[in-house]
Amino acid sequence: MCGIVGYVGHRDATDFLLEGLHRLEYRGYDSAGIAIQRDREIGIRKKAGRVQELDGLIGTQPIGGRLGIGHTRWATHGETTDLNSHPHVGGNGEVVLVHNGVIENYVALRTQLQDLGYVFRTGTDTEAVAHLVAHHYSEQIKLGADETSPEPCLKAVELTLPKLKGTYGLVFLFRGHEDMLIASRAGSPLVIGVGEGEHFIASDAGPLAGYTNEVIYLSDHETVMLSSKGIELKHRDNGRMSPSVQTLDQVSSDTSREGYDHYMLKEIFEQPHTIENAMRGRLDDDEATAKFGGLNLTVPELRRADRIVLTACGTSWHAGLVGEYLLEEFSRIPTEVEYASELRYRNPPLSNSTMVFSITQSGETADTLAAMRECQRKGLSTMAICNVVGSTIAREADGGVYLHAGSEIGVASTKAFTSQVTVLTLLALYLGRMRHLSYPAGQRMIRRLREMPEKIEQTLQCNDLVKEVAQKYYQYNNFLYLGRLYNFPVALEGALKLKEISYIHAEGYPAAEMKHGPIALVDENTPSVFIAPNGHIYPKVMSNLEEVKARKGPVIAVACHGDEKIAELADDVIYVPDVEEYLQPLVTSIPLQLLAYHIACLRGCDVDKPRNLAKSVTVE
Ligand code: G6P
Repeated sequence: MCGIVGYVGHRDATDFLLEGLHRLEYRGYDSAGIAIQRDREIGIRKKAGRVQELDGLIGTQPIGGRLGIGHTRWATHGETTDLNSHPHVGGNGEVVLVHNGVIENYVALRTQLQDLGYVFRTGTDTEAVAHLVAHHYSEQIKLGADETSPEPCLKAVELTLPKLKGTYGLVFLFRGHEDMLIASRAGSPLVIGVGEGEHFIASDAGPLAGYTNEVIYLSDHETVMLSSKGIELKHRDNGRMSPSVQTLDQVSSDTSREGYDHYMLKEIFEQPHTIENAMRGRLDDDEATAKFGGLNLTVPELRRADRIVLTACGTSWHAGLVGEYLLEEFSRIPTEVEYASELRYRNPPLSNSTMVFSITQSGETADTLAAMRECQRKGLSTMAICNVVGSTIAREADGGVYLHAGSEIGVASTKAFTSQVTVLTLLALYLGRMRHLSYPAGQRMIRRLREMPEKIEQTLQCNDLVKEVAQKYYQYNNFLYLGRLYNFPVALEGALKLKEISYIHAEGYPAAEMKHGPIALVDENTPSVFIAPNGHIYPKVMSNLEEVKARKGPVIAVACHGDEKIAELADDVIYVPDVEEYLQPLVTSIPLQLLAYHIACLRGCDVDKPRNLAKSVTVE
């Protein structure tokens, strides 16, 4: 979702800004723009469409200078048009800004500002902020403030921020201030890159790769003034602060597709390694358990836990559903999975023996962050299962486990899902071994987990077959995905993948529940994808499959190698290795990722940047 970049220093800002916007493309956006200050004027180039189109615009209308800001917009208020793209201008051009987030009270602010004579040119919430800052700035100047000093600029921002309701990451340029950026955040991430005689700012560390690995994460209600020479940091309540500079071991841009046509495909094929990375150093053979460095909970606290709440959004929520089955089976601790967007407002009873885990790839999802903060407010221990190191959720959680899956760029999450499921399996083993699980059972789980990278490698060999299956079905407009027990969340995830990237209507259901509604959709034009690997529920799933066949529904089955019976019933079978039931989601999800991928390609969809979606959803 909206991406921000900014630069102040000695080099030409345009190159950094454009490169940074390209690196932020994965977040999801529909327009892009930059503003550059030079010779006391701020020039703006902005355009609906891809950053590549902005490159083209700047090619024909060049712009250069040593101070600038850039933005990729994911529309919330106001259509996707050149005019609504950021940067936005306040007053008569004395302030230019970019914004990530939503200003909830923008209508009231706009009315007040219009009454004062400000003219609104866009349909955005952001323009109200631009005019409000410009208004406070001009008031400061009228009161006699020195126009050449940064003070009235900072004061104007400080007077504006308390009047904003909602979320923001904001970066401001002030006309005539050639060596100054001001930025502030409340709810939307910003990270500052510290260089030699230059400073950078961005929504995440990606754009900083290759420029610096010294970073400062801005916290909520902090405002920073950056110049080529210095950083001044202030907190709304605590006044001036010294910035805490962190060194990132590796700020990776990880933007190479390594020969794959799409990031999504590359990430699907990375899964043998990412699953291995999620387990690395976490299997304890001597004690037949798992171990975690960062949980930050004592053994008595872990033993006292009598309830687990997993909270997440999207694909991470589906991983949470697999986690519920795993944790209840192995640790016997009652576990619930809550949509973060519901949990944050629902106020369920939570005792202090409840452990809350926020599951998130990005660590920036607004609802997941808000749900976690709500639980913290009530005194609960909150842990994160997170991929992005240094993200807001990773930093604010009381403890947690990193996925170590590397950057996930494809908007449709793939490798993060299987890594989340792997970490949840380790967690179930760990908590189980503290309670009911025997030593031999723990040893067996470890052995099976160690086999998984190899099993995933074998699973990926289905790619060519899945491509053929996709060829046969890509023109259908409705799909059902059906599975039971551990494969019910996989059905939901398979349907989500298809919806996300190929825009086909797909529903995931527990296979038996189909009889209570979705079966009405079954006919020769609605294929059903049955996830039917070996297991104690297999005969039941087969009955459900027969019910679909009896109604002429085409069936694609995902089944275990050697299952010849299913081939007699299903129209197409994609075979996967036979693994224990609790590990099945790690293999059965992969053909479904590939199926969605190939169908989307055949339908000519933009796989890595699906319409309307964002990688990291930083608004409510
Ligand atoms: C967006 C992404 C999904 C992701 C979800 C949750 O909707 O497009 O792929 O599953 O957010 O994101 P998180 O980063 O919290 O896992």
